[in-house]
Amino acid sequence: MALLNVLCYPDSRLHKVAKPVAQVDARIKKIVADMADTMYEAPGVGLAATQVDIHERIVVIDISEEQNELRVFINPEIIWSSPEKKAWREGCLSVPEFYDEVERPAQVRVRALDVDGKEFEVDADGLLAVCLQHELDHLQGKVFVEYLSILKRTRISQKLKKRAKELAGER
Ligand code: NI
Repeated sequence: MALLNVLCYPDSRLHKVAKPVAQVDARIKKIVADMADTMYEAPGVGLAATQVDIHERIVVIDISEEQNELRVFINPEIIWSSPEKKAWREGCLSVPEFYDEVERPAQVRVRALDVDGKEFEVDADGLLAVCLQHELDHLQGKVFVEYLSILKRTRISQKLKKRAKELAGER
């Protein structure tokens, strides 16, 4: 088991755009396993590779209550979004202790490769739809706070910078 360091907003590396995975090989499988360990340890319901400073299109999600249904999405793409929208209160491991409402399409269809490199599609609604859109945004270098007002974003950014300093013992 290996835990990866999760980047914290407003780290500029969170805004890098991830590249597609060329081949699902042993290296990618190791990244997936480490990302899953990191997500479960946090604990969180989703993690994008961007958040652990790996800029390749890899996402892990587990929205199950028991945290025993790992879903892996390699090179995921949203191939359909519903015109209907829904607002959810979102949080993010890269934005600790902040939650706010974001409106997104209520349903999406995503095409991706699984951990064996096999293509699949999933029709998602509810929390899974929110999670997929949130994590795919990360791969594009977008953090959910960017949907909020500049005022809110600035406040979050200031508080997290202060928190990071405190954690580093530089008060
Ligand atoms: Ni996030």
